[in-house]
This record gives sequence, C-alpha cells and structure tokens, in this order.
Amino acid sequence: MCGIIGYVGNRNVIEVLMKGLSALEYRGYDSSGAAIISDNKTKIYKAEGKLQNLKNLLNEKADEVKDSHVGIGHIRWATHGVPNLINAHPHTSNCGKIAVVHNGIIENYKELREKLTKMGAEFKSETDTETVAHLVAFKYKETHDLKEAVTLAAKELEGAYALCVVHQDEGNKIVATRRNAPLVIGIGDGEMFAASDVPAMIEYTKQAIYLDDNQVAVLTNDKIELFDENNKQIQPKIELLPWEPVSLSKMGYKHFMLKEIHEQPNVIRNFLTGKIHTAKEKVKLDEVKLDFEQLKQMNRIQIVACGTSLHAAMVGKYIIEELCNIPVDIEPSSEYIYRHTVTDEKTLVIGVSQSGETADTLTAVRQSKARNSHILIITNRPDSSMAREADSLIPVDAGIEVSVAATKSYIAQLTAFYLLAIHLAEIKNSCDNDKLVNLKNELLILPQKIELFLTKKEKIQKCSRMYSSSKNFIFIARGLNYPTALEGALKLKEISYINATGYPAGELKHGPIAMIDETLPVLSILMDGKVYEKVLSNAQESKARNARMIALTDVDSDERLEELFDFVLNVPHVDELVSPIMAIVPLQLLAYYIAEFLGKDVDQPRNLAKSVTVE
Ligand code: G6P
Repeated sequence: MCGIIGYVGNRNVIEVLMKGLSALEYRGYDSSGAAIISDNKTKIYKAEGKLQNLKNLLNEKADEVKDSHVGIGHIRWATHGVPNLINAHPHTSNCGKIAVVHNGIIENYKELREKLTKMGAEFKSETDTETVAHLVAFKYKETHDLKEAVTLAAKELEGAYALCVVHQDEGNKIVATRRNAPLVIGIGDGEMFAASDVPAMIEYTKQAIYLDDNQVAVLTNDKIELFDENNKQIQPKIELLPWEPVSLSKMGYKHFMLKEIHEQPNVIRNFLTGKIHTAKEKVKLDEVKLDFEQLKQMNRIQIVACGTSLHAAMVGKYIIEELCNIPVDIEPSSEYIYRHTVTDEKTLVIGVSQSGETADTLTAVRQSKARNSHILIITNRPDSSMAREADSLIPVDAGIEVSVAATKSYIAQLTAFYLLAIHLAEIKNSCDNDKLVNLKNELLILPQKIELFLTKKEKIQKCSRMYSSSKNFIFIARGLNYPTALEGALKLKEISYINATGYPAGELKHGPIAMIDETLPVLSILMDGKVYEKVLSNAQESKARNARMIALTDVDSDERLEELFDFVLNVPHVDELVSPIMAIVPLQLLAYYIAEFLGKDVDQPRNLAKSVTVE
C-alpha cells in the first residue's frame, strides 16, 4: 500500500504534493512525508499520524522551500516498522543528498541490509525502503548519474516497488520506476507528475503514461525520458485519461461512507443502463468476449478476490451456478496463489477487485493467465493493473469510492455478477426464460426499493444506539445471504472495531453457540425464500440461549418475528434471487451508525487501507 507522488514544475510544490497525497490517503494514513529540493539541498519533512499533521508542518516551513521546483511525497501504511517519524518516508542516503519514496515491499531487504551495512551504510529505520536509498547511493558513487544508479539498484531489488528518487546534485529531476506496484506519469505543460494513482494528478493533466514493470522514467519539467528493462530509450505511449477532476465533496453528508451508501441506487441504475433495455430483451454485455463455442469448452469457473470483493464473488457463485449450471469455485486470492490449483484453458477465471491493484488477486490472475485461462476482470478501475490483464473486462462504474470501507463498489460488483450470470445463461440457454425475465425485472425495480428504504433510517439508527456497547456481534444467514452475513460482519468490524462474525445459520450449533449469552446480539438475515423457515428455526436456538435478538427481513406479515426478536429491521420485499443487494444496505447503515455513535473515524478506520498492494 502507501501512496507516492512526485512533481517537477513551476507550481507551488508543497501544494501539488499535499493535494496529491490527499487524493492518495485511501492507500494509507499512518504517517507521511516529503522531500523537497530547494537551495540545492534535499530537505526532508515528516509527520506521524494523519496527513493534516504534515500539511501543518509544511505550512510552517513554507519559506524554507519557496524557490523549489522538485519534490516527492509519501503517505504510509506501515509494513516494516511501526508508524513513527523515523520509519516514515522519504528515506535518505547517509550523505543526505538522495531521497526515496516507495510503495511496495522489498522482499530481499534483509540480505541487502546486511550487505549494505558491511559496505558502510548506517541504517536509521526498520523499513525495507531504506535499503533502496543506500543502494542507490552506492550505485551513484560508481556512475555519478541518478538514472543509471536507480537502474542498477532496481536490478538488485526483489519484490514489489514503485519508486520516486531525487538527488540534490541533479536537482531538476525525478527518477521513477516500478515493478508489481502501480505508477502513472502525468505529462503537463512545462511540468511532470508521477503518482501511485490518477486522482493525485488529474486536477493538472489528463495525459498520462502507465509505466510497465522495470521501466525507468526520468522526469524534468519539459520532458520525460523512458527506458525499457534493457536500459534502451523508448518512445512513451501517452494515453488520454478518461477522468474528470475527482470531486472529494461529501455533498452535505457527515462522512463519505454515508454519501456512498446513498449513491447505491444510482450506481445500480447507471450500471444497468444500456445493458438491460427491457426485461424481455437479452442482456447486452459486449464486455464479455466469450461466444457459445468458447463457453462450451469451459468446464469450470474460478473466482479470486479479497475482502469485500470476495463476498461479492460468493454471491456470484450462487447466481452463476443457479442460472448457468457451471461449477464455480471461489477462493481468497492469497490462498489460491500458494497451492496447486487445477486451472487450464478450460477454466474461466474471474478476478474481482474494486481497486484492480490488490496484490494477491493480481498475482492469482497472472498465474491463471500463464495457464491459458480466459481472464475476466470485474473492477471499478478500468485503468488498473488487473484490468490490463483482462481478456474480458467489466468495469462496474461505481465512481470514486473514498471511504475505506467498501459499500457502493460492492453493490456494483453484485450487479455485475447478476448481469454476467444472466448473460452466460442466455448464451448457453441454460435457464428457463421466464426466470431470467423475472430476474431482470427485479433488478430494474431494485434501485427504487433501496431508495425507499433509505428514506426510513430511524429504526436502524435506534438499533445502532441500542447495540453499540456490544463487544461481540454475530450475523447468521443461509444460502444466498450467507455472504451478506459475512459482509455485514466485516463492515461492522472494519469501522467500529467490534468483534463481529458471520456464520451460516446451520453452523451455529456446531461451536459458535457456545459463545451465546444474554449479552450477545445475534442478527438473523431472514429474507423471504426457501431458507426463511430454516433461518428462523436457527434463530430460535439463539433465543433459547438468551441472545439479544435482531432480525433483518423483507417479510412483514409473520407474527412470529415480533415474538422472537427484540428488534425487527424491515426492508422492502424483493425476489429471493436479488435479496443480497437489498439486504446489505441496512447492514452497511448499522455498521455506519454504530461506528459514528462510538465516535470512530468512519472513513479512515485504523490499520486499514483501501488498496492493498502488498501480498
Ligand atoms: C482492502 C480494503 C477492502 C477491500 C479489499 C480488497 O482490505 O480495505 O475494503 O475489500 O482490500 O480490495 P479490492 O480493491 O481488491 O476489492
């Protein structure tokens, strides 16, 4: 994780770096820092905690760097070494002339550290990154050229890195390179940018170059020189970014998370537009580059994902198996990549990732690609590293999600899976047409139902206040909504730090029931359908152990609910097949209001980052 930025040009360097880092805060926020070349000196500024602390520091020190035209910045999510001032980036060579910011992990840092220490380097921090600063310094002694020094140093690095490096003796430039970590170069008029992600520079330019692995770029204010992995100069391929400057406004909501929850009906609507015209017509999903013949060859689907995206994948499995009659396996990417998976050209591999940069999922996708599987990527970032591996790419178009806890990107991923399943079923002719027509109708009216629900949040707020002092929480569900229970629990954990767990309701009696007493809230997800009665009877088992009983349901005519539960949260009635989309919304709100009531930092919860670019 971590975010890096570099700027060469005539604007106020501090302003560009700080705006850039603000836009990268989703990548980490435990400390930050900048190196600014001014008066032919590399000047370092660092702060612990939130970016605001660095901004305050730089406001005080603005005079020290007012003549500057070159700077690099960093926002950290600690991997090696606690988040303190010493471990914060930039890291410097012992001479203090070279400064480095880094996103990724240098896997051979221990060996390098030993080697460099023997050569005379004195390490100050516990980070893997500091090895890069010393290594570049030794290479610079040999070459007296920053680009050559970075190129040679990079050859000795193992692992993942996006790097920006400056040297006070070559104070007009930034040298940038990457391997297995994102880095985009922005081309301005008399200015150049480098950043982990587009939002950091989109206010200033729409022309960009996505660096490939092992390429090295030298940025000065009026030109970029690009070198391939053989150190041969190559012509950069400039792309026009399809982005508007990102609006980071909360639009009157207290937090981005609340705003993003309310955006969900429109996210679904936008996504469906152009893909489902009327329920009777076939889904139009030209993004999927598989025809009947190719699909016939496929004997299985594997879905790889992490976190919230994994929960979307679990719903995807249910829907695809239900409609398409193809076996679907899902696996956390971090598990998939370290075992022998049976994957070949007859396997359709689906990678699901909001960011498109999650290291484990990216590796899983690349591994499957090497085994000739067709790669289908579902992502909110069609410009991401994962998207570039895709044979078929479904961008979910949820718009930028600022809150670290994923909400609208989840709903968009779910919508993508429904469309994909219907589309595959229509190609394969594997499902009764009435069922597909009904499902399309249900999807089309779903945004309205969610909107209706979002106008009635008082009960959720009340429920949140009542249960906010709980130390533990259990969510139970069955079938299609088991992933909803997992996602509801994950949301609550992420932002309120309450120990919340989701279980298949039938598993409760096989262990978890031992935890139940009169202090423990058990939230049962009771959506109308074939497992309704089953979940209800599993809920009885909790009641018999005096649990605090909460129900989430779309059934409003069952008298047993008021008797059994202390609190019944109602949502509009939906068809069972689309119920995971409806049911997650109140659980997102429950997590939100509990965290807000507890005074937690809802949009930037502790220890988390939105884009996890380390394995
Ligand atoms: C991090 C985020 C989660 C996200 C997960 C997977 O842990 O905090 O919200 O679900 O990464 O991210 P991806 O971008 O691959 O969906």
